[in-house]
Amino acid sequence: MLSQIRQKAVSARLLQRCMLNSGRTYVSRVVAHARFQPAKPSLSIQRASLSTTRTLRNAASEPSKLQILGSTYAADNWTNVTPTILDKTGRNLLHQPAHPLAILKELIFKEFPTFAHYDAITPDVSTYNNFDSLGFAQDHIGRSRSDTYYINENMLLRTHTSAHQLQLLKAGKKGDRSLLDHARNGSAAPMNERFLVAADVYRRDEIDASHYPVFHQMEGVCTFSRAEIQKIKAAASSPNSSTSSAAQVSDTTVISSENPKQPEHTDEEVAFLVEDMKQTMNNMVVQILTKAVAAKRTAGNADNTQTEFPVRWIDATFPFTSPSWEMEVLFQGEWLEICGCGIMKQKILSDAGMTDRVGWAFGFGLERLAMLLFGVPDIRLFWSTDPRFTDQFAPGQINTFKSFSRHPPCPKDVSFWLPQGGEFHENDLMDLIRDIAGDLAEGVKLVDEFTHPKTGKSSRCYRINYCSMDRNVTHEEINEIQERVRGQMVQRLGITLR
Ligand code: DAH
Repeated sequence: MLSQIRQKAVSARLLQRCMLNSGRTYVSRVVAHARFQPAKPSLSIQRASLSTTRTLRNAASEPSKLQILGSTYAADNWTNVTPTILDKTGRNLLHQPAHPLAILKELIFKEFPTFAHYDAITPDVSTYNNFDSLGFAQDHIGRSRSDTYYINENMLLRTHTSAHQLQLLKAGKKGDRSLLDHARNGSAAPMNERFLVAADVYRRDEIDASHYPVFHQMEGVCTFSRAEIQKIKAAASSPNSSTSSAAQVSDTTVISSENPKQPEHTDEEVAFLVEDMKQTMNNMVVQILTKAVAAKRTAGNADNTQTEFPVRWIDATFPFTSPSWEMEVLFQGEWLEICGCGIMKQKILSDAGMTDRVGWAFGFGLERLAMLLFGVPDIRLFWSTDPRFTDQFAPGQINTFKSFSRHPPCPKDVSFWLPQGGEFHENDLMDLIRDIAGDLAEGVKLVDEFTHPKTGKSSRCYRINYCSMDRNVTHEEINEIQERVRGQMVQRLGITLR
């Protein structure tokens, strides 16, 4: 909805990052969109986040220090992490064995027994690892402060698990145990040659049932030495494609100048890598969905009888792979975007000192699939500590969520004039509301906008839907929150209330 309205105002252009889909990958698509603002400090939000942050140590005496999971960082004029977000860094949903996201993580780990499994790498990563090491252009929209939570200019909350690609490839080469010791399992291959990383990732975003500023991803990296490829080819089998697949695959993509192979690779190598990657991904998804359906049958709650899972492959572009694709699966009548993937840019491998190796990689969002598998209707529920939610799940089981009483929503509108001559970023408004209302803010929608013909002033009206998942809220409580939101909007965002 918000994006539709935004689109009205702008002409089509090539976007380097698109998050219009709830799969939320850094995929390039041609869309009309005007979100990118060159990264530049917005003082208002920075002041607000620093003055309210509870995680600041001794905020009065040391106003410029931030603590994140035991590490201390100096704040600067890039800092835009908020207390609400910092609180999430310690929740560790992936380490709660009965949590749906952790159950899905384990299912995926099991599909990759020969890979090293990482699920405890903290989210504070360098801007270099998150963007530069992967070849993100300097003006890539993903780098902007309106899209990313910065700890300071050089550190941020990882926006994707790809942030650990170079780090892990390199760590193995250098024998750096500090990272490798995070691996959960021993692995047949060296821990840095084939690995999975499951982790929480952070992106500033709008508020609705399928978007939350923290979500979870699974990264997969699989590398081969060139000699290994020859050996496998001679044995005429692909190492990761042993299981027969129930996937009906639709793949009309071709490697062409639009989605090119890299000059460093031979046609033969690319063909091998692509086949291995696509078979591995097809198998993984089909296995997981088949298990999910079987588990539901056993539990007597087979709410669908789907036994085949058509898969389709679509060309994509990522800064760190070429060629690149997105994979979609037809699940319960809907094409579900499962992951982005591709042949790893050779520069990443050579930066890690792996000049003799080539590889493929994928990045997979966990929430969207977990919502479908477990029938969870609202992404906020994953963060609920209400036993009526948490007690419904058990390690290794795929139970269908049974909703408990939904409490009545309480919508409130706020209308205002945009700052004249100043900047207004919608994500600043989203964070401000999250900071004050927490998860009581169920959705925020732009419901009206116009420009006054005489004064040229622009007005917007947003509807904030307040609703609790676990209790009744009173009108007094919501009115009080709404007043604080309105007051803070004036102070922090420089708008004028109407
Ligand atoms: N990191 C990407 C994102 O969050 C997803 C992705 C795409 C990961 C392609 C990969 C990959 O490893 O090869 O949008």
